[in-house]
Amino acid sequence: MLIDTHAHVNSEKFEGEREQIIANAKEQGLNAIINFGDTMESSAHCVELTKEFDICYAGVGIHPEEAFPMTADDDERIAEWTKNEKVVAIGEIGLDYYWEKDPLKRQLQKDIFIRQLDLARQLHMPVCVHDRDAHGDALEIIKKEGKDLRGVFHCFAGSYEMAVELFKMGWYIGVDGPLTFKNAAKLPEIVQKVPLERILVETDCPYMAPVPMRGKRNEPAYVYHVAAKLAELRGEPIEKVLEQTTKNALELYTRLKV
Ligand code: NI
Repeated sequence: MLIDTHAHVNSEKFEGEREQIIANAKEQGLNAIINFGDTMESSAHCVELTKEFDICYAGVGIHPEEAFPMTADDDERIAEWTKNEKVVAIGEIGLDYYWEKDPLKRQLQKDIFIRQLDLARQLHMPVCVHDRDAHGDALEIIKKEGKDLRGVFHCFAGSYEMAVELFKMGWYIGVDGPLTFKNAAKLPEIVQKVPLERILVETDCPYMAPVPMRGKRNEPAYVYHVAAKLAELRGEPIEKVLEQTTKNALELYTRLKV
């Protein structure tokens, strides 16, 4: 069993090749792929893919880099999508200070992050958080506005201490390609120290392919290499890592049926 808990098969980089990409994933043993939207348009596309491919599930939401002043109509449209049982999360939502330096636009990111956390709470959905160079603010917002919510900091790049704070709230960390990179900062050390029960594996494809595929276009099947690296770093059998991370994904994303 293996689940790519964060992918973008909707990306134009897969145009015309999605059937092959899904076949590759199945051949590698994947049971589910969760594609996350970053705009209203891409969220709609991710929902469409759930109808086209049995192993595709979706997360819907507005990514911080795509932030715009959301209205009640947008909330309603997102709520409408979640009536589809294969929509398993609100995401990806969060903060991205790496690309955004303008204080007003950062404020807009915060506003719609909080707005979508509220929406997730009303809809009883877990959330998938994107946090790039915004660890302090992202954690503070989750602590304050994330009550009664569960979720994952995908492509986790925070500290060990931050991971522990998230675990206290029942949250998870997601790891992907960067875990396998030679220049991976503190992540290898963190995944050795934290409970396996709190880790999800993902690709975030089409970007950041894990070693030994680094530099190529990433795809869900490569999530196996992330799990293998995790097993190697922790000194645990790959079977155990596959089984536990799948269990974790099913615990967080309760609508997944695999
Ligand atoms: Ni992503």
